[in-house]
Amino acid sequence: MCGIVGYVGHRSACDVVVNGLRRLEYRGYDSAGIAVPDGDRVAVAKKAGKIKNLDALLAEAPLPAAGTGIGHTRWATHGAPNDTNAHPHTSADGRLALVHNGIVENWAVLKADLATAGLVPTSETDTEIAALLLGQAIDAGADLPTAMRQVCQQLEGAFTIVATDAQQPGIVVAARRNSPLVVGVGDGENFVASDVAAFIEHTREAIELGQDQVVTITADGVQVTDFAGAPAEVRPYHVDWDLSAAEKGGYDWFMRKEIHDQPEALANTLLGRHDANGRLTLDELRISEAELRLIDKIVIIACGTSFYAGMVAKYAIEHWTRIPCEVELASEFRYRDPIVGPRTLVVTISQSGETADTLMGIRYAREQGARVLAICNTNGSTIPRESDAVIYTHAGPEIGVASTKGFLTQLVACYLLGLFLAQVRNTRYDEEIAAVINELEEMPAKVQQMLDDHDQVLELAAEFAEAESVLFLGRHVGFPVALEGALKLKELAYIHAEGFAAGELKHGPIALIEDGLPVFVVVPPRGRDLIHDKVISNIAEIRARGARTIVLAEEGDDEVDAYADVCVRLPMVSTLLQPVLATVPLQLFACELATRKGHDVDQPRNLAKSVTVE
Ligand code: F6R
Repeated sequence: MCGIVGYVGHRSACDVVVNGLRRLEYRGYDSAGIAVPDGDRVAVAKKAGKIKNLDALLAEAPLPAAGTGIGHTRWATHGAPNDTNAHPHTSADGRLALVHNGIVENWAVLKADLATAGLVPTSETDTEIAALLLGQAIDAGADLPTAMRQVCQQLEGAFTIVATDAQQPGIVVAARRNSPLVVGVGDGENFVASDVAAFIEHTREAIELGQDQVVTITADGVQVTDFAGAPAEVRPYHVDWDLSAAEKGGYDWFMRKEIHDQPEALANTLLGRHDANGRLTLDELRISEAELRLIDKIVIIACGTSFYAGMVAKYAIEHWTRIPCEVELASEFRYRDPIVGPRTLVVTISQSGETADTLMGIRYAREQGARVLAICNTNGSTIPRESDAVIYTHAGPEIGVASTKGFLTQLVACYLLGLFLAQVRNTRYDEEIAAVINELEEMPAKVQQMLDDHDQVLELAAEFAEAESVLFLGRHVGFPVALEGALKLKELAYIHAEGFAAGELKHGPIALIEDGLPVFVVVPPRGRDLIHDKVISNIAEIRARGARTIVLAEEGDDEVDAYADVCVRLPMVSTLLQPVLATVPLQLFACELATRKGHDVDQPRNLAKSVTVE
């Protein structure tokens, strides 16, 4: 949440920072602002609303030319999203400016201390407290890096802070605890940002920062210390995607582009993970096979869409490995005294790698002695760094706030993990594992087929554009797909949508069914699956009560015809893998319906990507 950029170099800092903010706008769009040195003081421009409002302000009143600058795009926590609460905030004398992502939890105590020194904030934000403290430290004679370290030692909570001091030009200082920050290393210029998208057009060389570190950038150097001032170890890395991946590529929305990216993203997630005989090697696994044989329980923790990927994973992992597997919302996990220990494998799933609830769950699990494996899409992020092992999903940057390719690639990574555990623990024959891998390899083409035949789904979105409520039903792995379909519709189209386990309907939710209510139903493949027939009965029950049924069923399944008002066909696939295909029409439906309603699909109201507060 919140996007932060800092720059020192030979270009116009204002241009670099505002462009960087544009690429980070998905992290929050309540307000945006920028500060550059201007003589003895900083010049600040900030405005409530999206970056286009800041653009308009800068067009009217440009900031002075400078090679140093900082900027911020906000997802409000403390204080309403207005001009005053927008970042940057300044010290009392206006010589330095600061931007912040996170929550300073002890801000009230610090505010009272500042008041005794006659320093009173003008905004309602916790951030301004940090700006005033920094100013105080500088007034006492500290240079900017030292002052930043001193302030960080006083702050509690989660924060990334970036600051510039007009009287120490040519440097930007940043610090992080529990919130993301990466350094971009350029040629005669350097950057700090919440993620690499902010500077990807200038450099693909990045440095991952650790917990409780302070970084000072100048045009020619990067220096990293801990909060005590001791030099710190950092990990440089090369970003394996480029600017084109962070642009819309001709689509109206990032989300639509990312839906269409899915075949390639799935192929990349599978790339290099198995040999020609279907034998898996997950090379980022830093847990030994001997340790994996000793695991007696798996606990999956994640939030939102990633949690639904975890629900699918539970079915697959238990089926293939016979290891008991729980799946839990990360925000609930550590608050209920869960039973985890050295023989528990905690699997976390996170597209961003920065979700605070998930990160806190990891820390709790590790304190209990559990081993943690992260399934993550973002290299350089905190969750993989704090885990014992990582499976990267290689989906490329996901910029639309609603997760799409993140989810599909998480499913594939979960399948790979389940199959790998089955291989290591000998719970499935090699041929069985190889057969599933072959099927996984067919998924990119099958998803492409779904995308090529999407007109029917777009027509459905036109038909239901005025619907006030939509239900989604599924059973077995179709249940998390139903939940995901409902979440996509809620967050993008702002209409009431619920996902239910089809078998649960008659235990209550069937009371919601009324004439014409659109109900999507995910029908499992036929084969030997008993649940197929059960789901058909569930469709019959709701249709008899007037529901308009949109049935997602495999090609050739003519048993559904009698009960389906509309049938969306899915390529044939085995039950456990069907979520990869069944999710695609639901993503397209939500994207199209929200577009028809005139909503901003990439930046839905009240939301932000990368939820870095608990
Ligand atoms: C919904 C969505 C969110 C995220 C959730 C977890 O479309 O994107 O529900 O899935 O906030 O985020 P990550 O996966 O980054 O931990």
